[in-house]
Amino acid sequence: MQGNFSYYNPTKLYFGKNAIENLEAELLQYGKNILLVYGGGSIKKNGIYQEVCAILETLDKNIYEISGVMPNPTYDKLQEGCQLAKDKNVDFILAVGGGSVIDYAKGVANCTYCNGDAWTRYYMNWEDVDNDILPVGCILTMVGTGSEMNTGSVITNDTYKIGRIYDDRSYPKFTILDPIYTYTLPKYQMVAGIFDIMSHILEQYLSGNNDSTSDYLAEALMKSLIHSSLLAIEEPTNYEARSNIMWTATWALNNLIGSGKPQDWQAHGIGETIGAYTNATHGMTLSATALAYYHTQLPYAIDQYARFAKNVWDIEKETKEETALAGLEAMKQWMEQLGLVMHIEELGVTKDMLEAIANQVSSNESAYLPLTPEIVMNILKESW
Ligand code: NZQ
Ligand code: ZN
Repeated sequence: MQGNFSYYNPTKLYFGKNAIENLEAELLQYGKNILLVYGGGSIKKNGIYQEVCAILETLDKNIYEISGVMPNPTYDKLQEGCQLAKDKNVDFILAVGGGSVIDYAKGVANCTYCNGDAWTRYYMNWEDVDNDILPVGCILTMVGTGSEMNTGSVITNDTYKIGRIYDDRSYPKFTILDPIYTYTLPKYQMVAGIFDIMSHILEQYLSGNNDSTSDYLAEALMKSLIHSSLLAIEEPTNYEARSNIMWTATWALNNLIGSGKPQDWQAHGIGETIGAYTNATHGMTLSATALAYYHTQLPYAIDQYARFAKNVWDIEKETKEETALAGLEAMKQWMEQLGLVMHIEELGVTKDMLEAIANQVSSNESAYLPLTPEIVMNILKESW
């Protein structure tokens, strides 16, 4: 553990079947005016909406709704939520959905009382939030982003998709994690979420060269994820598999496994820029570019990539180089088994977008190989 760090994560988790039973006691701690935030309607089809509203009515809360929060939520939509939160003097924001809904809720929480244009101040310029913020609670229905236990809020505006990490006040007060809520996810979303989890772990694991406990934790999470994902694609209602995936997602991005070491996040930079230009599903923007990305990094970190092959995929070849390459090959086979998108063309990327995407991706000086527009362009071509 070479780097100094602080660790703080106050989000209370309620995990398991019928975890929703804890919602009432949590909401009793907050005022009457609740902003209920959700997406395009999946929660009405699977009954979660009705379940939540029944609890809110028992508590005699005033319910104000923001529905139609889209995947990759936009700043325009965010402003609508801020206006309603202000007009109705909202006391608490309840987000019911996946990462998009939760990120949106955190955005509304921070931006409602912002003086000035919140996009410029809080997303483009990452200014400190100098206004009061609203408390947020979450009921998770889609697994992948880790938004349920972190302070991230990814918002899209035109061709910019920016992930703001807000301050400690923005941790959700609580999150309800019932794996059964994820059973109705279409397979496309389920596997996109699974790869998002893998990518979050790799952003923290494939960086640095130290013997860090964080890396051993990351290996355990990846082994569980690989094992459970293969069960879940065969049998989507396998509770053990779906619950392991849910728990892994939360720990993959709640500050734990990045502690005390450098982090990469360049793979996400590429994925999110593609997302800004195409509005494609987040996890698929990562899967389509991952292999090309990691192949550019591997020559600069043979030891760590060989460790990945050995400790995660149980592969050892004659030389470290061969072992390292075989690890990525094993990951490729696993990705194909899941049915992930492996080509950016399938996500709606067109040839005339390539240069703008390559120029927009930012680099990280602590990565094994910091990106340049030329390197990104090669990755995009390799991922075509
Ligand atoms: O909108 P509805 O009708 O609810 O449908 C959603 C949506 O179409 C559907 N869905 C969710 N739960 C369901 C369900 N369908 C059936 N049954 C259920 N139980 O799934 C679709 C995708 O939902 P979304 O919330 O967009 O997915 P995800 O959780 O992957 O979130 C993606 C967003 O999170 C950001 C991404 O960039 C993207 O904007 N991220 C947030 C991060 C963070 N806060 O730390 C980190 C991540 O790297 C990521 O960038
Ligand atoms: Zn992600």
